[in-house]
Amino acid sequence: MCGIVGYVGPRPSQDILISGLARLEYRGYDSAGIAVIDRDGHLGMRKRAGKLQVLRDDLIIDPLPDGTTGIGHTRWATHGGPTDANAHPHLADDDKLAVIHNGIIENFATLKAELVDEGYEFRSETDTEVAAILIGRAYAESGDLVEAFRSTVSRFDGAYTLLAMHQDHPGLVVAARRNSPLVIGLGDGENFLGSDVAAFVEHTRNALAIGQDEIVAITPSLVEVTNFDGEVVEVEPFEVTWDASAADKGGWSSFMAKEVSEEPEAVAKTVLGRVRDGAVVIPELDGLDELFAGISRVVVIACGTAAYAGQVGKYAIEQWARIPVDVELAHEFRYRDPVIGPDTLVVSISQSGETMDTLMAVKYAREQGARTLSICNTQGATIPRESDAVVYTHAGPEVAVASTKAFVAQITALYLLALHVARVRGSMTAEQIARETHELEAVPEKISTILEREQERITQLAGWMADTRSVLFLGRHVGFPIALEGALKLKEISYIHAEGFAAGELKHGPIALIEPGQPVFVIVPSPRDSTLLHDKVVSNIQEIRARGARVIVIAEEGDASVLPFSDEVLRIPLAGALFEPLLAVVPLHIFAMGLATAKGLDVDQPRNLAKSVTVE
Ligand code: F6R
Repeated sequence: MCGIVGYVGPRPSQDILISGLARLEYRGYDSAGIAVIDRDGHLGMRKRAGKLQVLRDDLIIDPLPDGTTGIGHTRWATHGGPTDANAHPHLADDDKLAVIHNGIIENFATLKAELVDEGYEFRSETDTEVAAILIGRAYAESGDLVEAFRSTVSRFDGAYTLLAMHQDHPGLVVAARRNSPLVIGLGDGENFLGSDVAAFVEHTRNALAIGQDEIVAITPSLVEVTNFDGEVVEVEPFEVTWDASAADKGGWSSFMAKEVSEEPEAVAKTVLGRVRDGAVVIPELDGLDELFAGISRVVVIACGTAAYAGQVGKYAIEQWARIPVDVELAHEFRYRDPVIGPDTLVVSISQSGETMDTLMAVKYAREQGARTLSICNTQGATIPRESDAVVYTHAGPEVAVASTKAFVAQITALYLLALHVARVRGSMTAEQIARETHELEAVPEKISTILEREQERITQLAGWMADTRSVLFLGRHVGFPIALEGALKLKEISYIHAEGFAAGELKHGPIALIEPGQPVFVIVPSPRDSTLLHDKVVSNIQEIRARGARVIVIAEEGDASVLPFSDEVLRIPLAGALFEPLLAVVPLHIFAMGLATAKGLDVDQPRNLAKSVTVE
């Protein structure tokens, strides 16, 4: 959570900082602030509670003198509420030093008590101000900002990316990171820092990923990276594969609307370059066959929507690669002494690659000797760096807080992984693999068909339901995680009570919730693959219908059996059973978006949330 941007170079920094923050606002939007060293060498600072626009408006009314060195921050509140005082930057050393922070300094109370005893006064309730004062105090002793970082940051427990600049040193921004993200953007005579590449991608696509426990100093012409002991470390360069326009709204009413429209592309790009002569060959896994040799099980760890993708992936990995799979919420995993070891492949799934719960679970898995593979959408992110291998999803930047295109890309990557492992382990014939691969390649067009044919009707339906207080979602088999995803998306952006259930579980309790008029979405599997499964779901529909539920069915084209028992039928194209989730989820994403829009809510930035959850 929290977005961080830093700039040193020849250009006026304010616009660069504000546009960087605009691209990072998805990380947190409780408050925003910038600090700039102006041309006279004075440090100026402005910060405001509320969304970035509040700060923008404030700067228009009362401009800050500009300069060519600056740092900026957009906040998701942890310590201290979303007020002007708690917004970043925080100042120290007689307001000559500005510090911004992403993460949580867990031992801040002890450090603060120490400083209070020494007579320091605090202007905020944040952990960050403690860091600012400590860095400022160390700087006052040495006059060296990098040294001040080095002697201070190792005292902080928890997670942090800290950025600072001092008015004594225009043209220098110093940063340190532990357990929070930081990337460098390399420009021509200018350099950038950001929580992720979105902060600077409109200026440069050349980037460096910063490792754990490292300190960075950037000037317009120099980048120096050292570890906490002062030794120079090698950094990994990479090129950002998407351009700035990919992270723009581009005429859409919201990022979420744009990203739902990109679901076909997210699947297609994730498959691209990974199919050779009908077989799935993932280039990133070249030479890593031993990762899959001798594994007795797979454990998938993730949070939220990514965990639901994992639940869908479980069916494919078990069916195709014939390896048992457990799916666990990352934040539960490491607190229960799980039985894992060298024969376990732990697959983490994360759009951001920074989710702290998932990162900690990956680290724990490695400590236990497990092999680790990450499925991730963000280059240079921490989780892939902490894993033995990575399979990137190529959904492009996802800005709306609610995950949509990344979800379908995650399922796609899991399917590719399952087919890759099936080939390596010989659990499927080449013909079987080619058949499934062909089905996967056909998915993007089928999603496009849903968007073309059903989007308007679903949005209209959502509009009629704007006053609904509760919606239930039912599914069986791969439809079950899709029901959970439909419910999460709805509650997340429309603030309506929503729950997803395994359809078979209904009669074990949840059916008591059904009363006349209760809207229930039901994901109906194709009758072509399993009449048994299909008919069971149709029976479940009849059970709720008999109790007055308003039934909205998602069923394949041509399935007439659902018509007598449904109030609405949303159609998806024909696909193999395992591919239906990639289609059935699309109407649910459209529905959640439509309902939130009808309620007049901000679909991109729902209350209390942030896109990248970098605290546990
Ligand atoms: C829901 C949503 C979240 C994320 C979860 C994991 O729409 O976006 O549930 O899926 O916070 O985030 P990543 O994938 O970044 O680890």
